[in-house]
Amino acid sequence: MDNIVITGFSGTGKSQVARAVADLLGWQAIDTDAEVVRRAGMPIVRIFQERGEEGFRDTERQVLQEACAGQRRVVATGGGAIMDPANRRAMEATAFLVCLEARPEVIYHRLEQEQKASQSPEVRPLLSGPDPLGRIRELKAQRQPVYSLAHWTIHTDALSIQEVVRAWRTFSSKIPTSQHSFSGNSDLAAVVETSTGSCPVLAGWGLIRRLGELFLQAGIKGPVYVVTDDRVAPLYLGAAEQSLHEAGIESHTFTFPAGEKSKSLQTATEVYAWLAQRKARRDGTMVALGGGVTGDLTGFVAATYNRGMGFVQVPTSLAAMVDASIGGKTAVDLPAAKNLVGAFYQPRLVVADVAALQTLPKRETMEGWAEAIKHGLILDAPLFRTFEEQSDALLALEPELTTRVIRQSMAIKAQVVSEDERETRGVRVLLNYGHTIGHGLESATEYGHYLHGEAVAIGMTGAAVIGARLGITPGDLLERQGAVLRRFSLPVACPGVDLDRVAAAMSLDKKAVGSSLRWVLLEDVGRSTTRNDVPPSLVEEVLESLAGYVA
Ligand SMILES: NC(=O)c1ccc[n+]([C@@H]2O[C@H](COP(=O)([O-])OP(=O)(O)OC[C@H]3O[C@@H](n4cnc5c(N)ncnc54)[C@H](O)[C@@H]3O)[C@@H](O)[C@H]2O)c1
Ligand SMILES: [Zn+2]
Repeated sequence: MDNIVITGFSGTGKSQVARAVADLLGWQAIDTDAEVVRRAGMPIVRIFQERGEEGFRDTERQVLQEACAGQRRVVATGGGAIMDPANRRAMEATAFLVCLEARPEVIYHRLEQEQKASQSPEVRPLLSGPDPLGRIRELKAQRQPVYSLAHWTIHTDALSIQEVVRAWRTFSSKIPTSQHSFSGNSDLAAVVETSTGSCPVLAGWGLIRRLGELFLQAGIKGPVYVVTDDRVAPLYLGAAEQSLHEAGIESHTFTFPAGEKSKSLQTATEVYAWLAQRKARRDGTMVALGGGVTGDLTGFVAATYNRGMGFVQVPTSLAAMVDASIGGKTAVDLPAAKNLVGAFYQPRLVVADVAALQTLPKRETMEGWAEAIKHGLILDAPLFRTFEEQSDALLALEPELTTRVIRQSMAIKAQVVSEDERETRGVRVLLNYGHTIGHGLESATEYGHYLHGEAVAIGMTGAAVIGARLGITPGDLLERQGAVLRRFSLPVACPGVDLDRVAAAMSLDKKAVGSSLRWVLLEDVGRSTTRNDVPPSLVEEVLESLAGYVA
């Protein structure tokens, strides 16, 4: 589906919802009524008076057909537009159809309020006769059979615009929004929609052996430049190369020493030189085969060499599958700080072979689960319940369940990134749940003590305590979260850590008032919010309890 069309009776909030949803997706909002008014140069009441309903419908039809011929548009239609069969054909050809519903009494009330607020002398036709409510009932009943053709109906009677949009968000990950060559593929976890195109995200058992075939399906013909580290290479490079070879794709490989130390400008320079030797051109594709270090480094090179090469992520660690491979953040570290030099650069395709987790060391696997559990906590209650109820099978890497859970976790990251590619709309920030304290802990211990996911687990525990103390997070959530984290062998405290250093790393000292920190807190499982008014004294108290200084 290229577009979304919102239908429904007057007074159901179509225009406002269309604008908010367009904002959410980074699409264009079009309001057909407003566009008709603009083209006619007069208000709707006058168009009806001067040109008759027919005149209005003609312009409306034109506007709607033009709108549906484009892509990435959220179109709010006038309440009667859908009655015209030509309009319906135009909508159904390219759009996902959503109907906003409300009872006649609610509609009447809303229209009356609107009329009052507008202070306009021109009364809208629906309200001008003797029995407006009766007219609304009658007209709505006439249109109802056609409204019910929508793919999805939202009953708005008891909802604010914000609540409608929230319902939307839960649902929108399931709307197929663009054409790509993996439609209908059962390994497809999500599609990341970005300003530079859409990126199919695949996860399945044994996909590395099918890499060549998947590349061809995605239109990637080669040559490809595979970058991997020296731990992953002996395990998966052979299968990847063989599959590429069988598909007739020319491939070259660069291997670097495993570890964060290699995520540097120096390694990037070595890869540049290697590409130059092979006379790599812009139409070639860089492939990151490995964990997050490989993905970040290769993505950075892909973004910069030749001002941008093709890029595919083949994540082999759990952290890279559910987190690092999706979202287009690429970077290398500088001595001053991690990830200091980088670029947003979206991959063209992500292929996660879940079977690769069988060789990932246990500690790395558990830290990866921390981010997947986080995805459930912030946005997906059913996913979190799966961690609660099926931990044994997940810990045993039972193929079907593990694949399903990873796909769902990837889909959440993909959805958040699609809504907020550059972290400017306040959505992507939710992924930072547990990271405020987590980053502080990592930095205070010089990245030598905790793996990232472990620090995040402790950070989530701290954030849940803070949320509970502020009356935002329900108390039982703290227990449920703790139980799951412990089940996945993740730490929920940091005994003996140097709290001054943690506080300093979090800029929590007296000068930097705590209000500058933006906390992600849970309102419930699957529902998160941000707050920047957490008192520094409360944060310090919670840190002390995590470090075991307070009983
Ligand atoms: N770009 C992003 O949005 C983003 C998000 C999160 C983390 N990151 C970055 O990712 C990095 C951490 O990711 P990571 O934990 O994957 O690091 P990593 O790439 O260093 O992988 C961890 C270790 O596991 C090994 N390994 C990977 N897959 C394996 C497999 N299937 N079997 C056996 N061993 C395997 C690697 O060789 C490495 O030794 C950090 O640099 C972090 O900054 C980036
Ligand atoms: Zn993280």
